[in-house]
Amino acid sequence: MKVRAVYPGTFDPVTNGHMDLIERSAALFDEVVVAILSNTDKAPMFTVEERVEMLERVVKDLPHVSVTTFGGLLVDFAEQINASVIVRGIRAVSDYEYELQMAMMNRRLSSKVETVFLMPAEAYFYLSSRLVKEISALGGSVHGLVPPLIERRLKIKHGHKS
Ligand code: PNS
Repeated sequence: MKVRAVYPGTFDPVTNGHMDLIERSAALFDEVVVAILSNTDKAPMFTVEERVEMLERVVKDLPHVSVTTFGGLLVDFAEQINASVIVRGIRAVSDYEYELQMAMMNRRLSSKVETVFLMPAEAYFYLSSRLVKEISALGGSVHGLVPPLIERRLKIKHGHKS
Protein backbone atom coordinates (compact mmCIF):
# COMPACT_ATOMS: atom_id res chain seq x y z
CA MET A 1 0.00 0.00 0.00
CA LYS A 2 1.33 3.42 -0.94
CA VAL A 3 1.69 5.89 1.88
CA ARG A 4 0.77 9.48 1.13
CA ALA A 5 1.95 12.12 3.59
CA VAL A 6 0.76 15.69 3.95
CA TYR A 7 3.21 18.36 5.09
CA PRO A 8 1.05 21.32 6.16
CA GLY A 9 2.09 24.82 7.04
CA THR A 10 2.01 28.52 6.33
CA PHE A 11 5.30 28.56 4.36
CA ASP A 12 5.53 32.37 4.47
CA PRO A 13 8.06 31.91 2.94
CA VAL A 14 9.45 28.40 2.49
CA THR A 15 12.87 28.09 4.18
CA ASN A 16 15.72 25.63 3.82
CA GLY A 17 14.41 24.03 7.02
CA HIS A 18 11.13 23.29 5.23
CA MET A 19 13.07 22.03 2.20
CA ASP A 20 15.06 19.72 4.44
CA LEU A 21 11.82 18.32 5.90
CA ILE A 22 10.26 17.90 2.43
CA GLU A 23 13.32 15.94 1.26
CA ARG A 24 13.35 13.76 4.38
CA SER A 25 9.61 13.09 3.94
CA ALA A 26 10.04 12.26 0.25
CA ALA A 27 12.64 9.65 1.22
CA LEU A 28 10.27 8.04 3.73
CA PHE A 29 6.86 8.16 2.03
CA ASP A 30 5.63 7.30 -1.46
CA GLU A 31 4.05 10.69 -1.99
CA VAL A 32 4.34 14.02 -0.21
CA VAL A 33 1.70 16.72 -0.54
CA VAL A 34 2.92 20.10 0.68
CA ALA A 35 -0.26 21.85 1.81
CA ILE A 36 -0.40 25.60 2.35
CA LEU A 37 -3.06 26.82 4.77
CA SER A 38 -5.10 29.37 2.83
CA ASN A 39 -7.24 30.89 5.58
CA THR A 40 -4.71 31.77 8.23
CA ASP A 41 -5.24 34.40 10.98
CA LYS A 42 -1.67 35.52 10.47
CA ALA A 43 -1.20 38.42 8.01
CA PRO A 44 1.15 36.77 5.51
CA MET A 45 3.91 38.60 3.66
CA PHE A 46 3.35 36.52 0.51
CA THR A 47 -0.12 35.81 -0.88
CA VAL A 48 -1.26 32.19 -1.10
CA GLU A 49 -0.80 32.37 -4.88
CA GLU A 50 2.77 33.60 -4.46
CA ARG A 51 3.53 30.88 -1.92
CA VAL A 52 2.11 28.16 -4.16
CA GLU A 53 4.12 29.41 -7.12
CA MET A 54 7.34 29.68 -5.10
CA LEU A 55 6.92 26.25 -3.50
CA GLU A 56 6.09 24.63 -6.84
CA ARG A 57 9.29 26.03 -8.29
CA VAL A 58 11.54 24.96 -5.44
CA VAL A 59 10.19 21.37 -5.30
CA LYS A 60 9.98 20.86 -9.08
CA ASP A 61 12.97 18.50 -9.15
CA LEU A 62 11.76 16.37 -6.25
CA PRO A 63 9.86 13.32 -7.48
CA HIS A 64 6.52 12.48 -5.82
CA VAL A 65 6.23 15.89 -4.18
CA SER A 66 3.27 18.14 -5.01
CA VAL A 67 2.00 21.47 -3.72
CA THR A 68 -1.56 22.50 -2.95
CA THR A 69 -3.62 24.67 -0.62
CA PHE A 70 -6.18 23.71 1.99
CA GLY A 71 -8.75 25.38 4.21
CA GLY A 72 -10.70 24.11 7.19
CA LEU A 73 -9.50 21.29 9.37
CA LEU A 74 -6.23 19.65 8.46
CA VAL A 75 -7.50 16.16 9.29
CA ASP A 76 -10.50 16.63 6.97
CA PHE A 77 -8.14 17.65 4.18
CA ALA A 78 -5.84 14.71 4.91
CA GLU A 79 -8.80 12.30 4.73
CA GLN A 80 -10.04 13.91 1.49
CA ILE A 81 -6.73 13.29 -0.26
CA ASN A 82 -6.23 9.86 1.37
CA ALA A 83 -3.15 10.90 3.30
CA SER A 84 -2.50 8.68 6.31
CA VAL A 85 0.41 10.73 7.67
CA ILE A 86 0.81 14.35 8.76
CA VAL A 87 4.46 15.44 8.80
CA ARG A 88 5.54 18.17 11.18
CA GLY A 89 9.01 19.41 11.96
CA ILE A 90 10.35 19.70 15.48
CA ARG A 91 13.25 22.04 16.07
CA ALA A 92 14.10 23.24 19.54
CA VAL A 93 12.26 22.06 22.67
CA SER A 94 10.03 25.13 22.37
CA ASP A 95 8.22 23.60 19.35
CA TYR A 96 7.32 20.50 21.28
CA GLU A 97 4.43 21.72 23.41
CA TYR A 98 2.51 23.34 20.55
CA GLU A 99 3.18 20.42 18.22
CA LEU A 100 2.14 17.85 20.82
CA GLN A 101 -1.10 19.75 21.45
CA MET A 102 -1.88 19.85 17.73
CA ALA A 103 -0.96 16.21 17.17
CA MET A 104 -3.13 15.03 20.07
CA MET A 105 -6.04 17.19 18.96
CA ASN A 106 -5.72 15.92 15.40
CA ARG A 107 -5.66 12.35 16.73
CA ARG A 108 -8.86 13.04 18.63
CA LEU A 109 -10.45 14.46 15.48
CA SER A 110 -9.41 11.57 13.23
CA SER A 111 -8.13 8.09 13.93
CA LYS A 112 -7.19 7.67 10.28
CA VAL A 113 -4.24 10.06 10.28
CA GLU A 114 -1.02 9.70 12.25
CA THR A 115 1.33 12.62 12.96
CA VAL A 116 5.00 11.94 12.33
CA PHE A 117 7.63 14.35 13.66
CA LEU A 118 10.87 14.82 11.80
CA MET A 119 13.90 16.83 12.87
CA PRO A 120 15.66 19.04 10.35
CA ALA A 121 19.43 19.15 9.94
CA GLU A 122 21.15 20.87 12.87
CA ALA A 123 21.98 23.89 10.72
CA TYR A 124 18.26 24.70 10.54
CA PHE A 125 17.38 24.19 14.18
CA TYR A 126 17.00 27.88 14.89
CA LEU A 127 15.60 28.85 11.52
CA SER A 128 12.05 30.13 11.10
CA SER A 129 10.07 31.97 8.43
CA ARG A 130 9.43 34.73 10.98
CA LEU A 131 13.15 35.37 11.53
CA VAL A 132 13.88 35.17 7.81
CA LYS A 133 11.27 37.89 7.17
CA GLU A 134 12.61 40.06 9.98
CA ILE A 135 16.26 39.77 8.89
CA SER A 136 15.36 40.39 5.28
CA ALA A 137 13.15 43.41 6.10
CA LEU A 138 16.07 44.96 8.00
CA GLY A 139 18.47 44.46 5.10
CA GLY A 140 20.33 41.44 6.51
CA SER A 141 21.43 38.45 4.47
CA VAL A 142 19.31 35.30 4.45
CA HIS A 143 21.71 33.56 2.10
CA GLY A 144 21.82 29.83 2.88
CA LEU A 145 18.65 30.04 4.96
CA VAL A 146 16.19 29.99 2.06
CA PRO A 147 16.35 28.70 -1.53
CA PRO A 148 17.94 31.26 -3.93
CA LEU A 149 14.55 31.99 -5.55
CA ILE A 150 13.09 32.98 -2.17
CA GLU A 151 16.13 35.14 -1.42
CA ARG A 152 15.44 37.05 -4.64
CA ARG A 153 11.71 37.34 -3.92
CA LEU A 154 12.37 38.69 -0.41
CA LYS A 155 14.70 41.33 -1.83
CA ILE A 156 12.03 42.37 -4.34
CA LYS A 157 9.38 42.56 -1.56
CA HIS A 158 11.61 44.76 0.55
CA GLY A 159 12.90 46.80 -2.36
CA HIS A 160 16.54 45.91 -1.62
CA LYS A 161 18.98 45.89 -4.53
CA SER A 162 20.94 42.72 -5.52
O1 PNS B 1 3.48 26.55 9.60
P1 PNS B 1 2.49 26.63 10.72
O2 PNS B 1 1.88 28.00 10.78
O3 PNS B 1 3.10 26.22 12.04
O4 PNS B 1 1.33 25.58 10.39
C1 PNS B 1 0.22 25.42 11.22
C2 PNS B 1 -0.87 24.53 10.57
C3 PNS B 1 -1.26 25.08 9.21
C4 PNS B 1 -0.33 23.14 10.40
C5 PNS B 1 -2.09 24.51 11.55
O5 PNS B 1 -2.45 25.81 11.87
C6 PNS B 1 -3.31 23.79 10.96
O6 PNS B 1 -3.29 22.60 10.79
N1 PNS B 1 -4.37 24.56 10.64
C7 PNS B 1 -5.57 24.05 10.04
C8 PNS B 1 -6.77 24.13 10.97
C9 PNS B 1 -6.83 22.95 11.91
O7 PNS B 1 -6.88 21.80 11.52
N2 PNS B 1 -6.81 23.28 13.21
C10 PNS B 1 -6.82 22.31 14.28
C11 PNS B 1 -5.41 21.87 14.64
S1 PNS B 1 -5.41 20.85 16.05
